[in-house]
Amino acid sequence: MKVTVVGAGAVGATTADNIARKELCEELVLLDIKEGLAEGKAIDMMQTCTLLGFDTKVTGSTNDYAKTKGSNVVVITSGIPRKPGMTREELIGINAGIVKGVTQNILQHSPDAIIIVISNPMDTMTFLALQSSGLPKERVIGMGGILDSSRFKYYLSTAIGCSAADLQAVVIGGHGDTTMIPLTRLATYNGTPVSNILNEEQLKKIAADTMVGGATLTGLLGTSAWYAPGATAAALVETIVRDEKKLIPCCVSLNGEYGQKDICLGVPVVVGKNGWEKIIDFKLNEEEQAAFNKSAEAVRTMNNVLGTLNV
Ligand code: LAC
Repeated sequence: MKVTVVGAGAVGATTADNIARKELCEELVLLDIKEGLAEGKAIDMMQTCTLLGFDTKVTGSTNDYAKTKGSNVVVITSGIPRKPGMTREELIGINAGIVKGVTQNILQHSPDAIIIVISNPMDTMTFLALQSSGLPKERVIGMGGILDSSRFKYYLSTAIGCSAADLQAVVIGGHGDTTMIPLTRLATYNGTPVSNILNEEQLKKIAADTMVGGATLTGLLGTSAWYAPGATAAALVETIVRDEKKLIPCCVSLNGEYGQKDICLGVPVVVGKNGWEKIIDFKLNEEEQAAFNKSAEAVRTMNNVLGTLNV
């Protein structure tokens, strides 16, 4: 098994580090446009292998896509991260050209790869990667909902005072501060609805905190978060390479599911060795469906911006 992570910034490097520690592949290539950065981080990681006890061979490359040849999974983190006060959407002008170019370069050397998109605005970058590559839709997955769900579980666990591992909670819709939809109604604490434990005001605050989970960290860190994005990206890679068939919210191409088509948006999907394999219908109520439609509208507006850029 071979995995490539494009972008050796904080998110890309943390993704690679988690993949190596979990030994998800024999070969891991970290690639970046900045001279020496990926090589340096790869060597730094390899110098932990005896301490952490992993056999994955991590190598770095400055923009030499030939080194990524034959990758089974490719994680794209390239582009600029947001600064405090910025929305993910404001990154489109710079990141669209980068993501399109990276996707094309990757496919020249790994035509059978499954592509995971993390670059923001993630829903639109996933749409762009799918459209510009012509890949079967199952092989293009946007990583957002799994991260947002992890943040949702964190906030729920803090309020309940329980282990986050005992919670089931999913965020669907777009990966944007106003477009994501924490499905509070369906969240459970080991099978018990969380609404049996927390009051409406608490639940509303948790949903609101979840939606700005990334923005809150950007405010604190001065750039976008990396530990949770890196760990969730590695968890997604794990589901693919181990063919786990886990049910994970991911950004995928919709063709009428959840009432939407010609768009990539976050919905619960089963993920395995072929990419995302099927969409599970959570049977949204009227209010949730209305929020989903609104989210789709916002993401579609962003997708339309692609046509005005020269990418
Ligand atoms: C975040 C970035 C990765 O939510 O979108 O932290």
